[in-house]
Amino acid sequence: MAHPDRFLLAGVMGWPVMHSRSPMMHNHWFAKHGLAGSYVPLAIRPEGLERALRALHPLGFAGCNLTIPHKEKAMAIVDEIDALARAIGAISCVLVRPDGSLAGTNNDCFGFVQNVRDEQPGWRADAGPVTVIGAGGGSRAVCYGLAREGAPEIRLVNRTFERAQALAEEFGGSIKALRWAERHDALEGAAMVVNTTSQGMVGQEPLDLRLDRLPKSALAADIVYIPLETPFLAAARRRGNRTVNGLGMLLHQGRPAWKAWFGIEPEVTPELRRMVEKTIQAA
Ligand code: ATR
Repeated sequence: MAHPDRFLLAGVMGWPVMHSRSPMMHNHWFAKHGLAGSYVPLAIRPEGLERALRALHPLGFAGCNLTIPHKEKAMAIVDEIDALARAIGAISCVLVRPDGSLAGTNNDCFGFVQNVRDEQPGWRADAGPVTVIGAGGGSRAVCYGLAREGAPEIRLVNRTFERAQALAEEFGGSIKALRWAERHDALEGAAMVVNTTSQGMVGQEPLDLRLDRLPKSALAADIVYIPLETPFLAAARRRGNRTVNGLGMLLHQGRPAWKAWFGIEPEVTPELRRMVEKTIQAA
């Protein structure tokens, strides 16, 4: 046991936050490792983020994860940002240091890549062009991961072209910004297509993307995990494409967070995955 004398605390700050399945996952790991601790959803409005983050230390929290809409705003609050989070331009995880200072990192990129590897063991980022839909915080982590893994060309399509353009300029390299009207054609010859927008999430419209140009050999991935199979993934599966949903990205990004907070790297097991899947299917 890492800290037998202390009740371990961590949480996720978001607004809204109650849909998040990360408390279930982290509390499963506390039980699995026989540790006394808890991971709680923290409903924090954007204007309260700084005070909430500064309260982590006096309350005895090891750290927290950040979700919508805090990932970019937290950059201006924490005391230290590692090179990866700085390059991605967003913080997904905060570690409270013994002196109370806050260190920010980003585990979404690791979560995305690990999930695709887990679900499609033969996957290679350098297999061909990748089309990424969306240029928000999620897209930044996905594009960074794809580029780092060797994607030869990333076609970045966003409703707001300027945002895609800014990201492409900032990241440089193999990323090319395309206009929203070009999204269907941008699938021509792609080895992979990733949805990083909120479209297809429960309560949102499906992603408006025609798949007729997408090669049948291409992999279709979504970072949305509620529902597990978005209309985009269902359409891809029906025409014979392999698909990867967003749940594993959530599960895997929790592993390095735990390692940083509690010194243990927990496992993403089929049992954990099934447990979380059940709550999504039942919702
Ligand atoms: P996150 O941090 O989860 O990525 P975000 O930064 O708000 O969230 O980004 C949301 C993404 O979904 C953006 O790419 C957004 O496009 P815009 O940059 O044009 O806003 C995209 N998105 C949201 N609603 C959309 C819609 N109705 N159609 C197409 N794209 C949409």
